[in-house]
Amino acid sequence: MNPVSRIYVALDTPDVERACDLAANLQGSVGGVKIGKEFFTANGPQGVRRISDVGMPVFLDFKFHDIPNTVASAIRAALPLNPSLINVHAQGGSDMLRVAAQAAQDAVDSRPLVLAVTILTSLDDTDLQDIGVSAPVGEQVVRLARLAQSCGIDGVVCSALEIAALREACGPDFKLLVPGIRPDWASSGDQKRVMTPRQAVELGADYLVIGRPITGADDPLAAARRIAEELEGL
Ligand code: C5P
Repeated sequence: MNPVSRIYVALDTPDVERACDLAANLQGSVGGVKIGKEFFTANGPQGVRRISDVGMPVFLDFKFHDIPNTVASAIRAALPLNPSLINVHAQGGSDMLRVAAQAAQDAVDSRPLVLAVTILTSLDDTDLQDIGVSAPVGEQVVRLARLAQSCGIDGVVCSALEIAALREACGPDFKLLVPGIRPDWASSGDQKRVMTPRQAVELGADYLVIGRPITGADDPLAAARRIAEELEGL
């Protein structure tokens, strides 16, 4: 895969002008942009269209988690925005995962890849016990990824520490999208368990979500290019 197309830059801002400026500046040097609940709640579908108009693939990081009918309808409602990636919570269960994957097939042109979030990286073993899940996080992540895969989901969002186990459990074609990425020249900020872009791809990541190392750099374009260069040859 071309190194640039692996990189999704997280536009974690409610400011549509700033997001569009960043997207325009980075176009061609990253594979796409990630837009989340903050941006969408502030700017709605029109804000997403402004970003798409820049000509960038868009990952709608909405993490849908609801009854199957509602999730399928939400995915269909998002299709006119032409996302390249969209996600749901694997904990929504097999029926929900199946209809989510099916709903994406209704796309007129190219369909988005549907990814599942397994266990949020903000949760640890104790948090799982609190909600009645006795398996440790690592085991539960693999279980949910396998479930998602069996339901037709294209891949998962995972931490860098989970890449190797998921690649082994789910095979070479299951997509792994990994946040918490830090080049060795960037500050880790509030991310505790980070990995460099090259290490993550060497372990088996398909896509990298990178925010502040690019958006917070003095020269975001130079930072994105430097990351793409570090991925050359993989
Ligand atoms: O700025 P930074 O590179 O830390 O941004 C990472 C992006 O990935 C943010 O949008 C963050 O919410 C998201 N994310 C994450 N860790 C997860 C899931 C998503 O950092 N486990």
